Formats: sequence, C-alpha cells, structure tokens
Amino acid sequence: MQEGSSDLTSFPHRHLLGIEGLSPDQITVLLDRSEIYVDQNRQVNKKKTLLRGRTIINLFFENSTRTRTSFELAGKRLGGDVINMSVSTSSIKKGETLIDTAMTLNAMHPDVLIVRHPHSGAVKLLSEKVNCAVINAGDGSHEHPTQALLDALTIRRRRGTLQGLEVAICGDITHSRVARSNIHLLLTMGARVRLIAPATLLPTDIARLGVEVFHDMASGLENCDIVMMLRLQQERMQGGFFPSIREYFTFFGLDYTKLANAKADALIMHPGPMNRGVEIDAEVADDFGRSVIREQVEMGVAVRMACLEVLTENLGQTMLRNT
Ligand code: NCD
Repeated sequence: MQEGSSDLTSFPHRHLLGIEGLSPDQITVLLDRSEIYVDQNRQVNKKKTLLRGRTIINLFFENSTRTRTSFELAGKRLGGDVINMSVSTSSIKKGETLIDTAMTLNAMHPDVLIVRHPHSGAVKLLSEKVNCAVINAGDGSHEHPTQALLDALTIRRRRGTLQGLEVAICGDITHSRVARSNIHLLLTMGARVRLIAPATLLPTDIARLGVEVFHDMASGLENCDIVMMLRLQQERMQGGFFPSIREYFTFFGLDYTKLANAKADALIMHPGPMNRGVEIDAEVADDFGRSVIREQVEMGVAVRMACLEVLTENLGQTMLRNT
C-alpha cells in the first residue's frame, strides 16, 4: 500500500470541478491520502475532528443515493457539520435560480459546497459565485471526479498501479460523466483506454481524447485488465438509441461469454446504480472473485474524505493569505 506525501501545495486547487487538467502528482496526492482513510474507516472508531467547526452543504439538483450518502459520511467522519439539500429539478428555472441558490447558501458561510446538477458546466458556474470550496458531484454528462478517483483507488489497490493497464469502458458513453472523468484520469496516469459502445451511444469526436473505439464486446474486451460497465441512462435519452433492452443486453450486456475475451483475472467494475440484465448479468455482477463493485462503494467514502481534507486545508491557507 502506498502512502505518499502530505504536502498540500501539491494540490494547488481551490475546487475539485473535474479530473481534466489535474497532473499525475495531484491525482496521486488524493489517492495516497485516501489510503489512510480506507484504514480508518475499517476501525471501530471512525470519527476524527479534522473538520470540527466546518460546514459542508450537499446541494443536489439531481437524485442520488450513494454519492450523497458517501459525501455525508465522509464529512461526518471528519467531524464536520453536514447539511443535505435536495432541490427538485422541476423547481430549477435554469441559470438564475442556480445562482440565487448559490448566493443564498454563500451568505451562510459554508466551507464546502458539494454540488450535483443535471447541466454540464453548472457546477463550475456556481463555483465562480461563492467564497467556499466546491466539489463537483456530477454535472450533466461532463464530469464526476470523485467517482473516477474512487475507481482509480480500487484499481490501484488491486493491481498496484494504473500504469500500462488496458481498461475497457463499456456502454452508454454519451451520457456518462463517469466515463469522461475516468478517461481523463486513466490516460493521465498512463493506462490505455478502450471504449466499447453502439455508435449511437458514443460521441463521434471521442477518439480525439486518445482512446481506442470498438463497437463489439468480443474484440473490445480482448486481453483487458479492467472491465468497467456503465448504466444505460434512459432518463437522459429522448428517442431511440437502441432497438430494445433485450437486444442491447445481447450485444453489449456483460455476461460470462463476453467476459471470456478479457484476461482471466480481469476486474469487473460498475459505478452503480446497476441495471441487472440490461448492461450486466446478475451473476457476473455478484462474482465475488472478480467483481469489485462493493469495494468501489467503500473506496468512495475514503476518497471523499481525502478531497474534503485537502480542499478545506487549502481553504484555510487561502484565508490566512487574504487576512
Ligand atoms: C453515476 C452518476 O450519477 O453519474 N452514479 C454514481 O454517481 N454512482 C452513474 C449513473 O448514474 O449511472
């Protein structure tokens, strides 16, 4: 297990809005910090006082179970006060309401705002209006940085490194912020990325990022180290992106037959929530020898604790510099 430097100047960002633009060292700082919290979260006493006196607001404009709970636990385990605000999407009147909400919350002096929003770019916009640190918990189909970090931590703990691994990301790439953040992170850390999807669920210009594109699972999964499945995000689709769920599963759902193309010890991942029988066969999802889906959830809390720690310490330094 790696334990790295705790030099905060190596993560010189006020917000965590995305993985794009982070350096390998900055990603490593966050992953190394997370390792400490993985151990701490397995102890009977999980509570620390590092964030005592700090206020963290979970501001979710989209439904979420695991990400919101994970951030809430992360904040509480570090001793912070965590407030959850769910804003129903029907009440959003585009930009104006978002900024109003941001300004209102800002006036209450939170230290960290954790924001999920259905529109790409909305979290960045909000971060420009507030004095606190902002963490992007998913904006539209753009980025979901803590998901990519927890995926990376899961892989690194199992394989020791990300460097040189062949990672296949499969399914609904078009609507997936998880895919985008993972592509940036994996390429930055020296892994090779293949995307496997029907043409209708793959942005045409995506190969520009430096990934390999496949339209069938057999050739895409050949000799892969990691198989990362994505949920079919039907709530973001208008019109027909595929003929039927049955056909989608036949061609792109992960079952043992398709998995046989990957390396014999390839890890199976999924960010959740899973649609069993749609993008992944139930037996494969529950294959405890190879599926690390629950481990991903465990790593999520540790990664979010590390992000909260680093950003609040940076915030403290900014405040000292400003006074
Ligand atoms: C993902 C999301 O919301 O982007 N879920 C998550 O954060 N665990 C993926 C998804 O919804 O399919």
